[in-house]
Amino acid sequence: MNATIKSEKKHFPVLINELINIISPLYGGTFVDCTFGNGGYSKEILKHPKNKVIAIDRDTDVYKISNILKLKYKNRFNFQNLKFSQIDEISKQSSNLKGIIFDLGYSLNQMQNYSRGFSFKSNSKLNMTMGLNTFTAYDVINKLKFEELSNIIKYFGDEDKAKLISKKIIQNRSIKEIDTQELVSIINKIKKFRKNKIHNATKTFQAIRIFVNNEISELIYGLINSFKILPVGGVIVVVTFHSLEDKIVKFFFKNYSENKAQSRYLPKIAEKKNIIKLNNKKPILPSLNEIKINPPSRSAKLRYGFKLRKNDDFDDLIKKFQFYLNIEKIGKKL
Ligand SMILES: C[S@@+](CC[C@H](N)C(=O)[O-])C[C@H]1O[C@@H](n2cnc3c(N)ncnc32)[C@H](O)[C@@H]1O
Repeated sequence: MNATIKSEKKHFPVLINELINIISPLYGGTFVDCTFGNGGYSKEILKHPKNKVIAIDRDTDVYKISNILKLKYKNRFNFQNLKFSQIDEISKQSSNLKGIIFDLGYSLNQMQNYSRGFSFKSNSKLNMTMGLNTFTAYDVINKLKFEELSNIIKYFGDEDKAKLISKKIIQNRSIKEIDTQELVSIINKIKKFRKNKIHNATKTFQAIRIFVNNEISELIYGLINSFKILPVGGVIVVVTFHSLEDKIVKFFFKNYSENKAQSRYLPKIAEKKNIIKLNNKKPILPSLNEIKINPPSRSAKLRYGFKLRKNDDFDDLIKKFQFYLNIEKIGKKL
């Protein structure tokens, strides 16, 4: 890893005890860790001698850690550099599959590597790619039209100054190339600094990161393909960190776990399939103690559900978030 900050923060796997409580009744099988990162979840699951883990991550920087686990747990651990929308590619290796786990977002390692441009402190060219990408944040900021930029920043970042920020980006880039610090400075000039509030650039950075990494389609197709390869009785666990992610995961679990009663006055339409069993309707949140030890965990929400029966039709989910999927399609021209 290059260009890292000197005082590196320690990595804590978020909601790890809560995750283990959910999956431990299924121990003695294979678990897929879709977001390997620092290996925090995989290491904990491998502590049980009868568990196997297939881990994936789109970032090849994680090889350092995955190779150590491969040596330590020869027949019980395997790693592949895949995106989680491609999870169906591992289905042949995954006998006795019991659970599929997602810990969304980016890792502390990615954040602390300033050359990758995830941090506001980064003083490199804009990048923000997690791995297996087709374009970078540089392309987004320096090539897209005003309307496209503004929609990305507004809808993926929930930034109410999206139009103004996009206007200034377009003006400034005609004078000189915009790098990470230049982008932060444009945003700082537009947004007033308020004490105890999040950094001025948080929302815009989140929006660009989501767009660069196709995080909406990754999540939607990650969930759909996980459901397809999971046997009945298996569990899907997802930890989210921002409201758009959580909206998608909440809809997935809620919509496919309810047998909504049809009004007897309306024409009969096909019964909604009840294909997921939920134990908790509400998300599980980190304890105050966890937030104290690991402050970034404060925005985490864990949702999970067990597969009840097979289903191939996820049109509801795709239709519900089509608007966001269409914004992501802008990236195809880059
Ligand atoms: C929050 S970290 C996971 C941390 C991990 N649970 C741990 O305890 O060490 C998220 C990881 O997921 C990876 N990731 C994000 N989106 C992905 C995707 N679509 N496909 C595969 N990996 C992804 C990132 O590269 C990052 O390494």
